[in-house]
Amino acid sequence: MSLRIDVLTLFPEAVSQYATTSVLGRAQERGVWQLHVHDIRDASDDPHRTVDDTPFGGGAGMVLLGEPILRTVESDPGMARPLIALTPSGRTFSHDVALELSHLEGFSLLCGRYEGIDQRALDLVVDEELSLGDFVLAGGELAALCVIESVVRLRPGGLGNDESTLQESFGDGLLEYPHYTRPAQLRGLNVPEILRSGDHARILRWRRAQSLLRTMALRPDLMERRGGLSAHEQAILDEFPALDETGQNG
Ligand code: ADE
Repeated sequence: MSLRIDVLTLFPEAVSQYATTSVLGRAQERGVWQLHVHDIRDASDDPHRTVDDTPFGGGAGMVLLGEPILRTVESDPGMARPLIALTPSGRTFSHDVALELSHLEGFSLLCGRYEGIDQRALDLVVDEELSLGDFVLAGGELAALCVIESVVRLRPGGLGNDESTLQESFGDGLLEYPHYTRPAQLRGLNVPEILRSGDHARILRWRRAQSLLRTMALRPDLMERRGGLSAHEQAILDEFPALDETGQNG
């Protein structure tokens, strides 16, 4: 079943263009997902296609009008639900949220611009708000594309091969192990010897050790969330202790 994603935006070209490039574009061609972009400006009833106005109560910046958003939603009865607005006040987006969305038949993303969206439009038609994190973007388009890319790559066939998402960062609550490709020596730095040993079981354990070491060093919060180390993981770390200064431990 193809995933349907609707995007409501003031910059339809920016969204369509990125979504037809690279992984997302190929996944659309394979029917993994389909994009429906709606230009909020098309729903403006004003000859100048105005979609913003000054805030009641005063203050800096402009607010996205409610009416064009409501009309855009009403213009397409097939628009996917839930309708999610990208705003800095939403629930923080994460791999777990991406997984949740990847199991749906579809969803819609409303991209804000200016200082904010008229609260009544959010109250009337938006099911949820998502934020990429504690920083403020000029609009929701980049955030929507981040959500789309992280969700589509989790769908079956989203990457062209289903194995790639299984071992990557966050899939099992850990950061990813380091990757190497040719040449075996780059500017004096060698690929860890073990990766050229052909001993695949040992390579798997080494990679696991690297994931654990990285996560413990860089993201102790993730380590805590997954409840620390299992006995099996402790045994792997005993086999492959921390990296030495040359970056070797295998
Ligand atoms: N729009 C503006 N800032 C945002 C953020 N941090 N996350 C999602 N959408 C946004």
